[in-house]
Amino acid sequence: MHQVNLAEDIYYLGFNDRRTHLFENFWPIPYGVSYNSYLIVDEKIALIDTVERTFIDDYLEQIDSLTQGRDVDYLVINHMEPDHSGALKAVVARYPNITLVGNKKTFDLVANYYQVSENQLEVYDDSELPLGKHRLTFAPIPMVHWPETMVTFEITEKILFSGDAFGSFGTLDGGIFNDELNIAHYEEELLRYFSNIVGKYCPHTQRALKKIQTLDLRVLAPTHGPVWRSNLKYILDRYEKWSTYTTDPGAVIVYGSMYGNTAKMADVIARQLAVRGVKNIRVYDASKTHASYIISDIFKYKAFIIGSAAYNNELFPAVESLVTKIEHMGIKNHLLGIFGSYGWNGGGVKNLQKFAETIKWELVYSPVEEKGTLKAEKFGQCIELANAMVDKLLI
Ligand code: FEO
Repeated sequence: MHQVNLAEDIYYLGFNDRRTHLFENFWPIPYGVSYNSYLIVDEKIALIDTVERTFIDDYLEQIDSLTQGRDVDYLVINHMEPDHSGALKAVVARYPNITLVGNKKTFDLVANYYQVSENQLEVYDDSELPLGKHRLTFAPIPMVHWPETMVTFEITEKILFSGDAFGSFGTLDGGIFNDELNIAHYEEELLRYFSNIVGKYCPHTQRALKKIQTLDLRVLAPTHGPVWRSNLKYILDRYEKWSTYTTDPGAVIVYGSMYGNTAKMADVIARQLAVRGVKNIRVYDASKTHASYIISDIFKYKAFIIGSAAYNNELFPAVESLVTKIEHMGIKNHLLGIFGSYGWNGGGVKNLQKFAETIKWELVYSPVEEKGTLKAEKFGQCIELANAMVDKLLI
């Protein structure tokens, strides 16, 4: 394989997964995902994170070819999720004298997942680990994405090994560094990765960014997606925007509909938003579009308008699943509109009102609920809901 250097003696050791359909067995990855590990060869040799277990054989072979028979001295564990720790046991078996580097929470997870409890070096904020001419420091960034998560900074070359932070879905198809590829291809997948994997922990991401901003950075090396060695502002600015729930003036409309009545209301509202000048409008059928794409767009746009048919006196199942996810993620700072079909005894709109109370977004207009097909009075209310949204959105 090509030898890929981040700097002299610092190597990229990543693998592309184009086979897995669902990341974490839940999130669709139509463009795949890469698992990025890194190797520093100095007086001491350090691996930074590993890869998903599928790639263990090739991974060990690549390490061997770069270390030329020497033992690896350290395995730095920035993040224990098995997409990165999957080769841990194999690495320990191959290099029995290796020292695992992590924090207390890391080692609790190492014991739980892999029953490995020897040769551990516990590090703290600003601990330093000299390798020779390269030196590593560490900083915990809890909950970006798990409680043990930390970042590792290589002082000499100013490289931050950032774990999931700044990562992206999408394989690295030849280009590995951001200046080797068309970054526009990753724009959507960067956000979908952030919003769905890290997005629940925006306040933690904000704290992590404040720590990272104190570093004199040259390279950002995450565990997924492109390695950033130029225009770091591109990705840092996006993380700042997304983690502060800063949105653009657009609208996401989602509906759950069995026979088209709730769908029709969505189209009326969408059309009126457009008539009033909203250019960014996305309308989704909750039964068809995976929640990850909808959540990604909620991080983009300020307005969220959701409709549900009544289904056995409850929310339509796909809508119920979606609003539960949104509640769990605790997304903040949006405008909300609600609509739906009554069926024979209601249940859709009634439960969306409970969602509104839980999520605490600003409800811009009274919920609009129609019985059966859309008729003149409720058509007018759909228009008014859209107008009320525009009045808040485009001020
Ligand atoms: Fe890429 Fe949280 O693991």
